[in-house]
This record gives sequence, structure tokens and C-alpha cells, in this order.
Amino acid sequence: DEKAIAELVAGHVVDVPDFPHAGILFKDITPLFADGPAFRQVVDAVIEHHGRSSFDVVAGVEARGFLLAGAIAYATGTGALAVRKAGKLPREVLSASYALEYGEATLEVHRDALQPAQRVLVVDDLLATGGTAEAALSLVEQAGGMVTGFSVLIELAFLNGRDRLAPRDVHALLTV
Ligand code: PRP
Repeated sequence: DEKAIAELVAGHVVDVPDFPHAGILFKDITPLFADGPAFRQVVDAVIEHHGRSSFDVVAGVEARGFLLAGAIAYATGTGALAVRKAGKLPREVLSASYALEYGEATLEVHRDALQPAQRVLVVDDLLATGGTAEAALSLVEQAGGMVTGFSVLIELAFLNGRDRLAPRDVHALLTV
């Protein structure tokens, strides 16, 4: 159930103080990906939440979202889309920029990455301020896709990232 999954995620996260900057408490989820049965359970939980027929493509946000998207795509037989940091894709791209604590970052997808009205599940490891997710969701929509779901393993609720994504539904396996 949901409580057991939240506890599973919580049990496989290591809090790292002052990374990458002083004052930031970094949520290191590498132990979750490293534990085969735990990884499989969280992937299955995301698929079950949305329903395996609710999306045609699963989009993962660089970099940790790629691991989730690849696993979900394999388990459901859907295609995968890598939402990339700027400058990585070789053909014509769509871009969306978002504010970081200091400066700005940009995400990109190929302009022809999606078919019109393709249903897309977007996944990432963590929702913090929501800037990354807002950019990723907007890129999927700019590319002609329909966002039918958005999931993260961990939501930092005190940063109110989900407010920026409204009215889209945000699903988090663990909220802290
Ligand atoms: C982290 C995380 C999310 C994003 C969330 O990625 O994986 O993508 O930050 O933050 P936000 O909600 O405040 O935008 P990061 O930018 O560290 O990139 P990486 O996965 O490539 O290391």
C-alpha cells in the first residue's frame, strides 16, 4: 500500500547536509536504485498509480529521471523520452528555461519527439521548487503531447513546487 511504499522510499534515502551548497540538505536516492527489489517496487507503484494503459510514452528528466523512465518504459512496453539539459540533442529542439537558486537552466527535447496528442507520463526523482518539472511538462506540451501524469519519488512539500504545476496532478511516493 501507499504507506509501505513511502516507508520503503524513506528507508532508502540518505540525507546529506550541505550538498551541493552550504545549507542544502541533499536527498541521495542512489541506495534506492541500487536495491533491486526496492527499485522494482517503486517502479511498479508508479505504474499502478497511473494505470499501465494511461500513457503511450514515459518521459524522464535528466539525470535521475532517466533511470525511472527506462524501467517504466520496459515494464509497460511504452516508448521513453529523455528530457535533456541544454546542448545535448543533435537536431532541432524545443527549449524551456527555469530559474535556479543562482542563475538559470534549460531543458530540451527534439521538436519531433512526440506524435500529436500522445499521452505522456513524466517522471523525476525529486520535486523541490518545481522549476524543473514545470519546464519538463511545458516541453512535453509544446511538443504536442498530453501530460496524463507526473510522478516523483520524493516531494519536498515545504517548497510548494506542486502549486506551480496546477492544475496538473502531482503524484509523490514520499512527501517530506
Ligand atoms: C534535481 C532533481 C530534479 C530537480 C528538482 O536535479 O533530480 O530534477 O533537481 O528541483 P526543482 O524542483 O527545484 O527544480 P538536478 O538539477 O540536480 O539535476 P541532475 O539530476 O542532472 O543532477
